[in-house]
Formats: sequence, C-alpha cells, structure tokens
Amino acid sequence: MRRVLRLASITLFVVCLTASAAFAMEIKLGIVTTPGSAQYIVAEKFKELVEERSGGDITVSIFHSASLGNETEILQQIQMNAVNMGVITLGPFDAFVPEVKVVNFPFLFRDYDHVSEILDGPLGQEVLDALEKAGFKGLAFSENGFRNLTNNKRPVHSVEDVAGLKIRVMESALHKELWRVLGANPTPMGWPIYSELEQGVIDGQENPVSVLKVFKLFEVQKYLSLTGHVYSAHIDVANLNWFNGLNEGVQTMLQEAMYEAAVHQRNWNRENEAGFLAELEREGMIVDKDPDKASFRAKAVELKGMDLFTRDPATAELLDRFL
Ligand code: PAF
Repeated sequence: MRRVLRLASITLFVVCLTASAAFAMEIKLGIVTTPGSAQYIVAEKFKELVEERSGGDITVSIFHSASLGNETEILQQIQMNAVNMGVITLGPFDAFVPEVKVVNFPFLFRDYDHVSEILDGPLGQEVLDALEKAGFKGLAFSENGFRNLTNNKRPVHSVEDVAGLKIRVMESALHKELWRVLGANPTPMGWPIYSELEQGVIDGQENPVSVLKVFKLFEVQKYLSLTGHVYSAHIDVANLNWFNGLNEGVQTMLQEAMYEAAVHQRNWNRENEAGFLAELEREGMIVDKDPDKASFRAKAVELKGMDLFTRDPATAELLDRFL
C-alpha cells in the first residue's frame, strides 16, 4: 500500500512538472561540517536522490564547512528561509524547541537498534512534529553516533577524573549543564574547534569517533574514553512555510528522499565505527574502551530533576515517556 501511494505521489509530481515546463527550483541546504563528514553524507545522498527523481528540475546546493556560520546561525537562517534546509546536530535545537533535548538525555539509548526503534517510531515523530512550533519541518533523524570524551590532560576512567577539565560543549543548555554536573568546566562553542584544542584554549571536547577521525582531532587530543554518554542525532529540517508551500508530490518526494538519505548515512556510521576507532588508536590516541560508565550515569541522572527538564511541562512529560 505504501508503495502504491508512493508511486501515485511520484506520478502526480512528474505530471505537475511536465505541466509546467518552466518548473525549476534550487534548494539551499546548509551544514557546518566538511565533505566526508556525517552531515555531508546525508546532504550528498539527498542531493543525488532529489536531482535524479526530479529529472534535474530540482537542484540541491550544499553550503558546507560553516560557510553560512555555526549551527545556531544556520537554524536562524532556515527560520527566515534564507536557507531552505539543513542537517543540524540536535544539541543547538535546545534554544529553539525545548522538548527536543529529551533525545540528548544522557544514557537514554542502550544501543543503535534501540535508537532506530525509538526515533523511527511514534516518539521520534513527536519530536519532529514539535519543531513546527519554531517554524521548522522535521524530516528525519540522521546521526553522529554516541558521544565520547577526549582530552589532553589525563586518562579519564571514572567521573572523578573529569574534575576541573575545561571541556568544549555544543551551544546547548543541556550539554553545558551535563558537564557542569559531571564536574568539568564546560565551555560552549560552535564548530569547528581544532585550533582551540591545538592552542590549549580548552582541554577537551566530546564527540563520536567518526568526528574525531574526519576532523583529525587525534592530532590535538591524546586521551579518549568511550563514555557513550549521549546519543548524538542530527535533525534534517526544512523551513516549515516553504515546505508547506510546495505541491504535495514534491513534498512527498523530498520527505522520502531525506528519510532514505538519513538511513543510508546511519548505516555508513554504524558499519564504519569500529574501523574509525582502530584508526584513532593507530594514530596514537590512548583509548579507555571500558570506562566506569556507572559513575557517569549516577551523576548525569540528576539532570532529570533540574529546571532544564522540570520548567516546561511538555518537556518533562515527553522525557517520562522516553525513559
Ligand atoms: O560537536 C559538535 O558541534 C557536533 O557534534 C558536530 C561536530 C558539528 C557534528 O555534528
């Protein structure tokens, strides 16, 4: 049935295009990271699918490498429709839509299967729908993976070892509060952060292994602890009014192309993660593969009772259903 509906909508879309020979559209899509990165893989696949399925009538221009500013700035440009779409890490969405941060609650997901089950199901859809309040159409979740701590000062095995480390965090209230609770000195900053790490402005940062590999953070960070404290999704978004103004066939085509691009990228991440880790070790990183996660979890759960999650009833209620 889904296939029949899909064929019908694509047929409708093609008929609409044929009826209007002059139809041509450029979609501007912004990301903060570089070619080869997780976000770029989503954007590139989306571009390929959309251009192929529209017979070239719709083109996708990818603005990458922070050429449009950091992720908060790209979100603002999407809200104004100066940029139509983006593949944006979930962290910076906090400031726009409070309940989205439940997905970043520490130690929420057991593993990648658990992630797919929840985010591809009704709870994930609720998070995407919540974005409409801020003028975004949430199309799909792609991913960075599970975030891990790196630093240049000392091996970190248990949460006590974090004390006083100056850790760069995303521009997100949740991430800042989490690292404060864990004992660090959290410093919010947009991406990229290579030179800040190189110059010692910050001692460490936290990101999934794909990011450490693609951005060569192994050159400027010595110790890696596989804390896996937060599952780091991207949300693949569009400007809501722009999206709703497109004809139905185009909307369906874009929605499906973005979901397929997201699944393609998640598979890429999951299939390559062990290889990325091996490469980080070959490059000389000292890796703690089995840190005392329980010690991190014991402190991190305090976030649930904090203003961050209790202030807004919709956020508190959604978190209860995720937990
Ligand atoms: O740490 C971040 O800002 C994000 O994880 C990054 C590197 C932009 C990838 O989404």
